[in-house]
Amino acid sequence: MSKIKISILFIIVLFSELTAQENLIINTYNRATKSLNGQWNYIVDPYENGFYNYRYEPFENQAEPGSGAFFLNSKPKDKTDLVEYDFDLTDSITVPSDWNTQKENLYYYEGTVWYKKSFNYVKTNQSNRVFVYFEAANYQSDVYFNGKKLGTHIGGFTPFNFEVTDLLKESDNFLVVKVDNKRKKEAVPTLNTDWFNYGGITRDVKLVETSANFIQDYFVQLNPANNQQIKGFVKLNGKEISEKEILISIPALKIKTKVITNKEGVATIEINSKKIKYWSTSDPYLYDVVFNVNGNELKDQIGFRTIKTSGQEIHLNDQKIFLKGISIHEESPIRGGRGYSVEDAQQLLNWAKELGCNYVRLAHYPHNEHMVRLADKMGMLVWEENPVYWTISWGNKDTYKNAENQLTEVINRDKNRASVIIWSMANETPTSEARNIFLTNLASHTRAIDPTRLISAALEQTDYQGNPGIRTIHDDFADVVDILSFNQYVGWYDGLPEKCGQISWKITQNKPVLISEFGAGAKVGLHGDKLTRWTEEFQEDVYVQTLKMLEGIEQLQGFSPWVLVDFKSPRRVLPKIQDGYNRKGLISEDGQKKKAFFVLKNFYDSKN
Ligand code: GCU
Repeated sequence: MSKIKISILFIIVLFSELTAQENLIINTYNRATKSLNGQWNYIVDPYENGFYNYRYEPFENQAEPGSGAFFLNSKPKDKTDLVEYDFDLTDSITVPSDWNTQKENLYYYEGTVWYKKSFNYVKTNQSNRVFVYFEAANYQSDVYFNGKKLGTHIGGFTPFNFEVTDLLKESDNFLVVKVDNKRKKEAVPTLNTDWFNYGGITRDVKLVETSANFIQDYFVQLNPANNQQIKGFVKLNGKEISEKEILISIPALKIKTKVITNKEGVATIEINSKKIKYWSTSDPYLYDVVFNVNGNELKDQIGFRTIKTSGQEIHLNDQKIFLKGISIHEESPIRGGRGYSVEDAQQLLNWAKELGCNYVRLAHYPHNEHMVRLADKMGMLVWEENPVYWTISWGNKDTYKNAENQLTEVINRDKNRASVIIWSMANETPTSEARNIFLTNLASHTRAIDPTRLISAALEQTDYQGNPGIRTIHDDFADVVDILSFNQYVGWYDGLPEKCGQISWKITQNKPVLISEFGAGAKVGLHGDKLTRWTEEFQEDVYVQTLKMLEGIEQLQGFSPWVLVDFKSPRRVLPKIQDGYNRKGLISEDGQKKKAFFVLKNFYDSKN
């Protein structure tokens, strides 16, 4: 099959899979936006009284929903009129942020909260279009604008947008969002996790104003098969998108080229250059890439690098690299609560840098976009993970669609980030036929929409042929991944630290191995002998013993110990020690470094 045919096939497959989230606007960072962050009015609605009538029928499905429907933001017409809520008389809450750490009476609240934001907005050009864009809201969001339903989004960690052009007024617009963070068996994640189920509009909300036909999406990365070729596509959104000319320039490479869209408004990109300065951890060089259609410009800062496996090695730009990592939860080290700001991301990545890391595992769900854009600038490699965690409803088709949807959204958002090298399908999931099919389908979907990155998952280790002294990975999904990763807790959940010296590893797969988790709990400032649990000395010893033990794994190419900072988890209730925190952090929630921090730092500083 000729090269042209292959590349058109590559784009068609790529494109057919990507249209799953066909209206997601990427790169809102460099677009004309108006922030809707700030104070919003809210109503706590545990009985979902503002959504269902007394017959438990959704108001939104009724022709005449009546004033009980909160999305109408109703006001009494006159003194006789009965309206039993009023957003403008309620308390306000800050967006973005979770509700749990803002309102004491909502600390453990799981259920529905209604948000309302009123605003005026005058378009800069009458022919322009306007979208409301949410970076994320946990977990299910039903979004209404000026009394009309815009749509529903499921998933707490990925972006979504809706068009409001035809509903927009110059003044007195009202945006109403029903956010429900109830945990459900068939959801993704499912009922039990080891992190705090923060609820709310947890990340930025903005209005995005575009021209009538605008650049909605693009994929501009190095061709994995030829590192002197930039390959991808650019996609227009609008009514006049067919056979349109799009100018693409990369000034620093003196590249100026034109591409023409097909009838779906998509143009393929193939740009050859022998002068590309490759993005790397030591030199995270980002190019300005400028798209121009009808005089409307959109810029992005993109790094070009290749990431591959070669036998048991991981190669960044064809150079072997050891991933010196740490696992991170998206909790604000500054305010507590769900992290969302540039400052939150900066603090976490600064600590990772200080630890000597060149890599971070963002667990167990997509973190905010600030994190990956900062990682691009700081030269920090990133593992991103889909929240398929522990025991998901593998046989449930909607659960699969939901998991695939969330994965597609994060890939869409971050596919132009050089720092992102690994897509993780799941964490600690029990092997079964249904689970293998579920994860294998996610992996092939991922490969179809992003053939430039590596696939993995945090698997679990087992005894080799029943011998507990020898550990191995016995998991069908290990044959599907590019990088074999697993969590292991020898010395904490499995024996005492000295047990590390009694364990050997027999990994049969000829693939690079990453230890996605190891670690131990310690209460900062608690000291004692190294056999006393919860002391810094015990945790320190687990690190010393584990680092020695892992040297025995021939295919070892890196790890991301659990975890950078102590984080909130309702599963952790030991008084005076945990008090609602998982204490496996190398840093306490108030920023104090534990002894083990320096064990790992010294190890990384000694490893080139
Ligand atoms: C698991 C899991 C983490 C959890 C950790 C722990 O491996 O992946 O989410 O927090 O172990 O038990 O501390």
